[in-house]
Amino acid sequence: MHREDFEMLKDDIIYFDNGATTLKPKVLAQTISDYYNHYSANAHRGDYDISLKVDALYENTRSLVKDFIGASSTREIIFTANATDSLNKIIFGYFRNHLKKGDEVLITKSEHASNILPWFELADTIGIEVKYIPLTEDHKVTIENVEKSITPHTKVISLAHVTNVMGDIRPISAITSLAHKQDILVLVDGSQSVPHMEVDVQKMDIDFLCFSAHKMCGPTGLGILYGKEQLLNNMKPIFFGGGMNASFEAEGKRMYHDLPTVFEAGTPNIAGVIGFGSVLTYLKEIGMQNIQKKEMELLLYAKEKLKEVPNIVLYNENSESAIIAFNIKDVFAQDLAIYLNKYNICVRAGNHCAKILKGEIGIKNTCRMSLYFYNTKEEIDKLVTVLKNPKLKEEII
Ligand code: ALA
Repeated sequence: MHREDFEMLKDDIIYFDNGATTLKPKVLAQTISDYYNHYSANAHRGDYDISLKVDALYENTRSLVKDFIGASSTREIIFTANATDSLNKIIFGYFRNHLKKGDEVLITKSEHASNILPWFELADTIGIEVKYIPLTEDHKVTIENVEKSITPHTKVISLAHVTNVMGDIRPISAITSLAHKQDILVLVDGSQSVPHMEVDVQKMDIDFLCFSAHKMCGPTGLGILYGKEQLLNNMKPIFFGGGMNASFEAEGKRMYHDLPTVFEAGTPNIAGVIGFGSVLTYLKEIGMQNIQKKEMELLLYAKEKLKEVPNIVLYNENSESAIIAFNIKDVFAQDLAIYLNKYNICVRAGNHCAKILKGEIGIKNTCRMSLYFYNTKEEIDKLVTVLKNPKLKEEII
């Protein structure tokens, strides 16, 4: 589907590492090169035509993001460097100022490092407690387990919508509904969901959402931070400088801009933001439902085909998104990824930044194939053929 839009797919490459980053459609490179070649002025700082054009296109992307995730206002959309940056800004800009010693945050052991380490830091500095929602045998979050984990001290639930190794989809709407009845806020890492399915922050009643542009055909170095306006009005910037201030005096008196500019100190990733606008239009035209449908077809096909491979271990047979974690018995995951590379097949091997998941799945390293709408059943067939190679172990040694 839409393979012709991706220059890299003309090369003899099978790209199954879309959880790490996706390929980029030609429209992205064209838009970015147009900016650099024809109107590469700064944003929100000039009074001349090309600068005003930059301002208009930059803000247009903000509006496209707002529509893409169903936010109610562009004031709720902040451009950051990546999802990690968004999470840190939320955790240190909002929660550090609203949590106190003994307050609890609920996460899980299958979260990405970016949704664990900032909380550990907050535990060390202000004494909050990091608690884990127990996962089911197939590594999922159930609303029952969330409910059981809540105590009178729980103040925030911070979860990936879709996890980056197990690919399970969390019941976010049910979680926000339960949490809000008890004045608990819900922070959602949408890095592996927003690129693959419709996510509507108002329908799902999400308090904070973050995701990265590069995992959805967009540029690297650009993340999104969404927050409900009343929450963002009570969040503090953690970066200070040009662009975010309205005035300051020698004795330290200062005024900062209003939302969303107050959180965008310094010259932003202008080329990336404008490029991302073209990508959002591109994805909208394809349709997020069509993207998800195609990925589900590929997922079912891949699961069935991979089961035919001798000695394969599948860690997430019940995966609900296009992510499959696997190993071949007695083969080190990274050796397997290097072997697949010989056949131009790209997968990621390792712990995938989910370093405490090992306690849940009983293994530290896996190979991960993560699909996107431009992958094909033929590519999956090729992977399966290469994995079935009776000389696989010899070739690795
Ligand atoms: N978080 C990215 C991944 O899962 C990099 O691969």
